[in-house]
Amino acid sequence: MTEHERELADAQREHWQHTYTAHPGMYGEQPSAPAIHAASVFRAAQVRDVLELGAGHGRDALYFAREGFTVQATDFSPVGLRQLRYAAHEQGVADRITTTVHDVREPLPLPDACVDAVFAHMLLCMALSTREIHALVGEVRRVLRPGGTFFYTVRHTGDAHYGTGIAHGDDIYEHGGFAVHYFTRDLVDALAGGWTRREVHAFEEGDLPRRLWRITQALPR
Ligand SMILES: C[S@@+](CC[C@H](N)C(=O)[O-])C[C@H]1O[C@@H](n2cnc3c(N)ncnc32)[C@H](O)[C@@H]1O
Repeated sequence: MTEHERELADAQREHWQHTYTAHPGMYGEQPSAPAIHAASVFRAAQVRDVLELGAGHGRDALYFAREGFTVQATDFSPVGLRQLRYAAHEQGVADRITTTVHDVREPLPLPDACVDAVFAHMLLCMALSTREIHALVGEVRRVLRPGGTFFYTVRHTGDAHYGTGIAHGDDIYEHGGFAVHYFTRDLVDALAGGWTRREVHAFEEGDLPRRLWRITQALPR
């Protein structure tokens, strides 16, 4: 990690901590549209356990648990994960969710081939360098069982905020304290090497709107 990457990473962790403290449950209680779609993909693939990366306060992790999946939720914000655990108790699904504070720049804290699916909504497009994103997808590959499903979403270069705000290099731009790596189609394709790719689907979320791709890819059995 370069000095600039380290400073950006530290600043982003602080920013998310402050954001979740100031705006508890900021994404709301309803699951995201990608999570609803992912649950049907996971059911069709007979998935039982899901690792969620960048789970935040857990709108999607809680939904997966309510749908009967066992969920390991990770995020680098302890504040977000505390809100998730509180909601899990309130909703009676605490027995199906575990939380781990983890920065995805580090290797995943899991053994090889131990989960059926990995879900990451708007996590790979955080302030991660292209090199860190490739390393993370290598880790996702390592922890998935054969035939496992990787379901992720990212903001892309068609988004209104792409190319505006503070430029950090490597297609990372910062707005209002939030740094985003806007994905090119070439990057999505490169991350699918060695996987079976099932779908790249464009969709929008929020008021801006954020423009995203939803990607589903699977490991060979
Ligand atoms: C755009 S939010 C999405 C949260 C959640 N997936 C949702 O849709 O409700 C991105 C999340 O990624 C987390 N995050 C950002 N960079 C991270 C990193 N390097 N390691 C782990 N989590 C990170 C943030 O704390 C935040 O919760």
